[in-house]
Amino acid sequence: MAKRVVLAYSGGLDTSVAIRWMTQEWGVEVVALLVDVGQDPTSSESFDSIRSRALAAGAVDCVIVDARTEMAEEFCGAAIRANALYEGKYPLVSALSRPVIVRHLVDQARRFDATAVAHGCTGKGNDQVRFEVGTHALAPDLEVLAPVRNWGMTRADSVDYAEKWDIPVRATREKIYSIDENLWGRAIECGDMEDPWAEPPSEPYTLTRVSQSEALEVTIGFAQGTPVSLDGVAMPLAQIIGVLNQQAGARGFGRIDMVENRRVGIKSREVYECPAALALIAAHADLEDLNLERDLHHEKARLQSRWAELIYDGMWFSPLKEALDSFIVDSQRHVTGEVRLRFEAPGVMRIVGRRSAEALYDYGLATYEAADTFRHADSEGFVRIYGLGVQTWAARQGAKNATPPER
Ligand code: ARG
Repeated sequence: MAKRVVLAYSGGLDTSVAIRWMTQEWGVEVVALLVDVGQDPTSSESFDSIRSRALAAGAVDCVIVDARTEMAEEFCGAAIRANALYEGKYPLVSALSRPVIVRHLVDQARRFDATAVAHGCTGKGNDQVRFEVGTHALAPDLEVLAPVRNWGMTRADSVDYAEKWDIPVRATREKIYSIDENLWGRAIECGDMEDPWAEPPSEPYTLTRVSQSEALEVTIGFAQGTPVSLDGVAMPLAQIIGVLNQQAGARGFGRIDMVENRRVGIKSREVYECPAALALIAAHADLEDLNLERDLHHEKARLQSRWAELIYDGMWFSPLKEALDSFIVDSQRHVTGEVRLRFEAPGVMRIVGRRSAEALYDYGLATYEAADTFRHADSEGFVRIYGLGVQTWAARQGAKNATPPER
């Protein structure tokens, strides 16, 4: 019996050609798996037409799984609690969807009694790392196939191949952009953007085209670090993300243009649009400013940047990431409250207020008005002892820069 393989299928040129190519060259049966992580099929085409393409390419079956709630609640939720921004900027759009897809690949591989899974990534990116390391973390026995790394076809060759085998792809020989999207945002690569000096063209942006000139204020409610309401109305996280992508995006908020370090040692220029992700992370971090005790807050800042790095590097399923999760979840016990955001076109977002019943902000301690409860006299001894070491050092060993330079 032919070996059976479950392929992470997107409907695009590479994965469509991969179905036929693996069938022909490797003699395997291919099951196509399309995982819905919130990519917008209406912007391109319906899932039904994607399924017919997989079957036309020779897939023995095409399974479509709706993983939007899972993506939102488990993966985006964790990213919000971790304020996850790789290299301080990128909210991990693609990096978060890969472990979701991997989990379903492994699940379907078991269901179809497959001995391997496959993906359509090239050898130059992070996604191959995420698919392969992730699969082996869940299923050390499964083989992972990467036909695109093996076949040595150019894009034009792939289009010819699709024509030869009557695979109804919509791609042309000229590839303009490589786009990966899900409910956490969109990642845009290639084309003119490969010159880091060149300003990105406006056409590949879809989420952040300005269509609203009126400012908008929204209030996000958090319970233990997770967004639970919008303007006081309780809502599932997937829906909060959807509304914010639209409303903040319509005011041009959410674009990122950066040069990032890929796991494989390449620096690449990347453009993203992530209105909801950036807004929710900023709001969450702001509520932490109000509610987290200082040492916990500072330590979390160190650990959470490591968390983002691990997710970027394909280590969603790993012992260090699990241990950091325990820390992060524990740190969120009192991160409950509300944050007020204002969006103004083009692309401006400001946090204008925050409140919480569990805030550590104490008006009596903070105020300079009559309500002041702070014991000013206590500071005298505190500051003297705090600075004692430096004072002793100055007296015995002298400060090098005590005299201003001559002008
Ligand atoms: N550079 C980003 C990352 O590694 C985006 C990758 C987008 N993937 C794609 N196939 N266009 O997470």
